[in-house]
This record gives sequence, C-alpha cells and structure tokens, in this order.
Amino acid sequence: MRFASLIASLTIIIFAVTGCSQEPTSYSVTAPDGGLSFKLTTDELGRVYFAVDDGDTAVISSSRMGFAFANAPSFTEGLSVVAGETATTDTTWELPWGERRFVRDHHNEQSFVLSDGDRTITLRVRMFDDGVGFRFEFPADFHAGELLITDELTQFNIANPSDKTFWNPAYNKDRYEYEYVKTNVTDVKAAHTPLTILDSTDRYVTLHEASLIDYSSMVLRGTDSSVLNGELVAGFDGVRVRQTGAFVTPWRTIQVTDSAPELLASNMILNLNEPNKLGDVSWVKPGVYMGIWWGMHLGENSWATGEKLGATTSEAKRYIDFISENGLDGFLVEGWNIGWDGNWIANADLFSFTEAQPFFDLEEVAAYAQEKNVDLVLHNETSGGIKNYEDQMEEAYALYQSLGVSHLKTGYVGFSNGYPRHDIHNEDHGDYLVFEWNHGQFMVNHYQKSIDLAAKYKIGINMHEPIKPTGLRRTYPNFMTREGVRGQEYNAWSEGNQPAHTTILPFTRMMGGPLDFTPGVFDVTFKGADASERIRTTITKQLALMVVLYSPLQMAADLPRNYAAKPELFQFIKDVPADWEESLPLEGEIGEYVVYARQARDSENWFIGGITNEDARSVSLDFSFLGEGDFTATVYRDGEQADWETNPYDAVIESMSVNASSTLNVAMAKGGGFAISVIKQ
Ligand code: NOJ
Ligand code: CA
Repeated sequence: MRFASLIASLTIIIFAVTGCSQEPTSYSVTAPDGGLSFKLTTDELGRVYFAVDDGDTAVISSSRMGFAFANAPSFTEGLSVVAGETATTDTTWELPWGERRFVRDHHNEQSFVLSDGDRTITLRVRMFDDGVGFRFEFPADFHAGELLITDELTQFNIANPSDKTFWNPAYNKDRYEYEYVKTNVTDVKAAHTPLTILDSTDRYVTLHEASLIDYSSMVLRGTDSSVLNGELVAGFDGVRVRQTGAFVTPWRTIQVTDSAPELLASNMILNLNEPNKLGDVSWVKPGVYMGIWWGMHLGENSWATGEKLGATTSEAKRYIDFISENGLDGFLVEGWNIGWDGNWIANADLFSFTEAQPFFDLEEVAAYAQEKNVDLVLHNETSGGIKNYEDQMEEAYALYQSLGVSHLKTGYVGFSNGYPRHDIHNEDHGDYLVFEWNHGQFMVNHYQKSIDLAAKYKIGINMHEPIKPTGLRRTYPNFMTREGVRGQEYNAWSEGNQPAHTTILPFTRMMGGPLDFTPGVFDVTFKGADASERIRTTITKQLALMVVLYSPLQMAADLPRNYAAKPELFQFIKDVPADWEESLPLEGEIGEYVVYARQARDSENWFIGGITNEDARSVSLDFSFLGEGDFTATVYRDGEQADWETNPYDAVIESMSVNASSTLNVAMAKGGGFAISVIKQ
C-alpha cells in the first residue's frame, strides 16, 4: 500500500517535470563575410539565450533574454522560438554631413518569434561583418493599455574577459562627465555604454545601443563575474519603461573587430538607425565656431550681469568680427538671456529663453552676424528645469528662426537624478516633487521634443548634459553634436583630465557619435606654469584634437587674443573644416594613441591628426590615401623639447610637398600630438 502510494506520487512528479519541460531549440545567423555568428537557444524550461561567436571563438557566451512587467506576467520562461523571415541588405546611403559621405550597409537579417503561448515578441537580429544588433518588437496585442516594463533581462556574458575593460561609471552626480575607468570585466560596477573591452583574445568588443527613442537608456550592471546585466534606468516610481500599443526597443549592439582602426571605422550604429526623416536638411550647417564661453570657465568673465559680464553687444560684435576676418563659421554666446543672476542652478525656473539681459541686444547681434555671414549659435541653459523650458521652447525657437539663428547649444546642468516632474502632483504621489534621471525614459523623451521642435524651426542642436548618442543624427540630422563627456571645461576649474583621456574617447564615448569636447586651446597654462589648473597637453595636440575628436560643430575654444598671439599655429584652425568626405582611422590603441586622416567634404584636401597619452612615441605615416597629383603638407608637430608638463609650447611648423607615394615619420612628445593639413597644389 505504502509502495503503491510512493509510485503514485513519483508518477505525478515525473508528469509535472515533463509537463513544463520543452525540447531545447537552437538557431544561428551569420554575418555576410561568414565571420561573426549569432546563436539563439532555448533550454528545457523555455528560457531564451543568445551567444556570439567569431569563427570558432566565443565572444559572448550564453546570455539570457526576457522581460518582466509590473502589470503583466513576465516573459522569461516557458517560451518557444520559431524562426521568421530572413533578408540580406547591401546598400550605400549618403550622410548630409558627417565623418564620411557614403556609408555601406551590408547585413544579414533574421527575425524570430518568441511565444509564451498567449503573447509574442519578435526578436530581430542584424549581422554585420563588424558586429551584431538585435532588438525586440512588441505587437499592439501584447498587452491591453499601458505596459509597465520593470526589467529587460538582456545580459552580456563576456567570453574572454580581460583587465582592459574601459567604462564610464553610471548613476553618479555629474552624469557622463567622468574619466573612463580601466578594470577587469569582473570589476565593473554600473557602467554607461558604450563600454569597450580589448578582450583576452585581442578582439575589440564594444557594447552599446542604437536608436534610443521613447525608452530608457541601458546601463551595464557588473556581477563580480564575466556577466554584465543590461539594466534599464528606472523612472521615479521604479517603472523602467512605459509603453502603449506596438513599440520596439533600441537595438542592443555588440561591435567586434580584430583591430583598433577597424573598430573606429565601424558604421554599425548609424546603419541600425532609421533613415533621415526630415527631408531636405541643407539648412543644417556644419562648421568651426568660437564663442563667449571659455572666459567664463576661466573666471575672466561671468554669465551673470556685473563687471565681468561676458555677453555684451559690443563683445559679441568683436567676436563676430574676429570670426569673420579669420574665415571661421559660427559664434556661440552664453549668458545673453535673463536668468543667470544669482544661483542659476537652483533658480532653473527663472530662465527666460526669449528675453535678453539689458546689455545684450539680441536683434542687433543677430543682424550683425548675418551681415558678416557668421552663424549664430545661441545658448539655452535649462539647469534641468524641464517644465520651464518646455513652456517656452516653441516661442523661443520660433523667435530664433525669425532672427536667422541657425544653431542652438542646449544645456541641462543638474544632479543626474534631479530632473523634476512637474506633471506628477496627484493623490498617489502627494504634493511634492519627484525627480528623474537624466538617462531615463522621461528625459529621453524631453531631449527628443527639443530635437523635433528645433527641426520644425530649422535649428541645429548641440546638446550639453545630453542623453548619450545612439546614432539618431541619421534620422534627425539637426541633432548635430553633443557633450555627454568630461570635456575641456574640466581643465579650467577641476583637477583636470589626464593625457590619456582623449585617447580613450574615440574607442568609447565616440562609438556612439560626435562629441562637443571644445578643443583648440592655445594658452594651456592659463593660471601660470605652476598652477594645478592647466591642460595636460602640448599645444600641437590641441590642433590634433580638432581632427581626432569629430564634431560637425567643432569649437575652437580659446580666446581671440590667444589665437592672435600665435598666428602661425592658428592657421591650422582657419584651414580645418568640420565636415568630411571620408575619415580613415590610420592606427591607434585604446588609451595609448590615435591617428586619423580625414578628407574635407567636396575637396581633395586632407587633414591628419595624431594624439598620444603620457608616453612619447613616433608614428610612420603613409599618404597612399591621397588622390593624384602633388599636395603641400604643413606639419604642426611637437618640438624636440616638448613635454606636456615641462614645455607644452615647443612646436615646429614645416612645409613639404607630398603625393600618394610619400611617407613621413612624426614624433609625438609626452601628452603631445601633431596636425597636418594636406592641400592640393
Ligand atoms: C555646462 C556646459 O557643458 C558648458 O559648456 C556651459 O558653459 C555651462 N554648463 C553653462 O551652461
Ligand atoms: Ca557639461
């Protein structure tokens, strides 16, 4: 009897296990050149995993996928996978402005339908020769009403961890404005993307996302193991994403290359974004700009009215004259509007975006800029006062357009989790303010509102304290450039940036897109040679950064008097453009050095920039990228005695004739660099 009852319960147990167990499934998608492959598997519990191999070598080991919700059953287990449609794309499209004109999009695509029996999500995978992108597509019938996502399970299990993992710490008060940390994968705490690993097989692996729209950004949460967990940034109430109806997630991206230059040359993030939605964007004008700006950071000028006020009508005209006389393109003015007096960070809601302070005549300056053919870059600092800004945005942008303002630099200085929600004052939350992260869905949507409205009024945006770049400049070409980095400004008033910082940025932050770093400062010991506030650079490295750190709006950040004092070096800034026909990363190593050659748009001329970290080194240039004929190369390089610390101003300028078969060795000092203009004869 007892034996019979034991048999009965065993039967039930076995039945229960087979009842929820599934036949494991496995699929594979391969890149056009057959190198990278994406494997999708399910286990016997119906959990879904992906992996990425490069040939026979695993790059990403088995990593989980799935979703959890506050108001719907989770989509993590009991899932089946059916392969959907496949496609191959091989097209070339054109960037209206950019680091290159033509971009080839060559990929294999495969969709999969994931089902829990009641609901489905489509997983779309695109395989490029230099990486993998995948995203989740939710159909309208996935959920009735608003869906509240509390977790996206996407993981990245790094197959070959190394201590060369470069990452920017997330959830810190100054947003993305930190130097990159270099640790083992296992020591990552919480990191913004792009995060780049030179893995133990010497492959370069960048984790990021593309096309971040109406979603929260993804942070990578370390786990003390080789697994990095994708973590969506939470809103004020813990919900990470709210969506109604059909929607898609951003693409989760993994770029994988064998060399550093190949990583820098990858167009995958742009290729995963939608084509231009704005139509004719000939009004979006790239260029090199100067501005009433660095003087404020040095403390020579102020944003506030008073003796040191920077933005006066006469000072603006003096800048416009200097810019026009030297053939540069744009003029930025900060501190022109009402709101800077007092504590402008705390008094966010006092900013007016239409009224100028009494010493600045906006109409007169705008007319003067137009007369001198200089693009006016106005500044809107919101201090994170989103409602105050949104209430005025349309009127302000319409005013700017009527005055011929072509560009706007926006700013969102504020504690990274301090963006108030003035729309949330209800019984559930009481009559107190709640706050959002600058990289959560609420702010992603605010930044997008600014881009959409600026497009309506034909204004190009340079965003400071932005959301990280995910390639949206393809879809919205007026979203030109942004900060989202520890920029040059930190050298003015903090312990500054180490020489290696700018050799890390191309491989990390800039994998997402252009950067308003504000290079080109000539007076690098502005507080005296012994002061701790200085720029850890040689003077020719500052020229090189104008080429290396790509931005379609590139600032020449120093004061007019410092350029006037060094006209021979300033010649490079007068010559260098901010829009390119082609960009060739020639060589480099993450955190060590980078060399770029870029061909000016609609021109046969080339500009080369090379930078190094704290180590001196030489590079051997081969000019085989040049077209036919002879060119005059003007080389701006570190002198024999140059050293960022002891002799930052030792520079040599020399000219020579070069052609496509020329070669040249160039030495870089500690913290140094070089720039070369190569002009067709
Ligand atoms: C921070 C920005 O990065 C900087 O460029 C600007 O001058 C200040 N905020 C003031 O808005
Ligand atoms: Ca900033």
